[in-house]
Amino acid sequence: MTDKTVTVTTPIDRYGVMGDPVSHSRSPVIHRLFALHTQQSLQYELLPVPPEKLEIAVRQFQRTGGKGLNITVPHKTEVLRLVDQMSERAVTAGAVNTLSFKGGEIYGDNTDGIGLLRDLVVNLNISVEDANILILGAGGATRGIIAPLLEMQPKSLMIANRSLGKAEALAVHFSRLGPVSACRFNAVPVSTPYDLIINATSAGVKGEAPPYPIDAISDTTYCYDLSYGLSPTPFSVWAREAGARQSVMGWGMLVEQAAESFNLWRGVRPDTAPVLKQMSIPA
Ligand code: ATR
Repeated sequence: MTDKTVTVTTPIDRYGVMGDPVSHSRSPVIHRLFALHTQQSLQYELLPVPPEKLEIAVRQFQRTGGKGLNITVPHKTEVLRLVDQMSERAVTAGAVNTLSFKGGEIYGDNTDGIGLLRDLVVNLNISVEDANILILGAGGATRGIIAPLLEMQPKSLMIANRSLGKAEALAVHFSRLGPVSACRFNAVPVSTPYDLIINATSAGVKGEAPPYPIDAISDTTYCYDLSYGLSPTPFSVWAREAGARQSVMGWGMLVEQAAESFNLWRGVRPDTAPVLKQMSIPA
């Protein structure tokens, strides 16, 4: 009789980010660093998926044993129809950036808002409570951050947008959560100084320069761009030149939202500071 040893190998847990385009995404680097730092064994891939292939790609990822996905532009709203269960914050945001696959079901969550708040409050020490906040833009990115910002009880939250109707619709939708109002992009009231201006338009990404409201900035204003790049974004350059107290790009939010997703998947929240440092992110 021969003594046979059978080695059973457990397949490595698979994660990834689906978007279009997605080749520029830093998520694989961030999640691999998180895995390294928390001694987790996992694989994280870039998954370019055009809108018409989203459903097939998600189902196939699920069928082949994938554990979790980040969902990015332009799929964050479209993916809602594929989830079986959704967190309250994803319902409020009307968008999902994190999918978890468990027991044959797809669970959708949104970690963008908490990611922004952690960067503002914990990393940058910016006080949101009692602040006068101005958000530029009224698209999907704005929708995802209004509720978490209002939860921090700012004094006021003004949404300015090129098309007034979209800003007004958001203000009406979120008015039960706090003092939120809307105005046209070029008619921002400036009687009270803004403590925080957040750029949530996609103008810079498209190489466009809208008439940012210069009178809304003073030397006490923090400016935060949800966009980020290896060189300063047009908004962050404008804010610096306009004399803002501090002008920051959204690298911290990117890393913080990733840490929240990682926590949902792995049950451990990685330390974000060393990752932000290791990514050599420009100031
Ligand atoms: P996202 O999901 O990234 O928010 P979106 O839903 O397409 O993308 O929203 C883009 C936002 O950027 C909108 O508020 C848009 O303004 P409109 O609602 O008026 O279209 C804003 N935006 C894009 N390009 C702009 C530009 N050149 N000037 C001012 N606002 C711009």
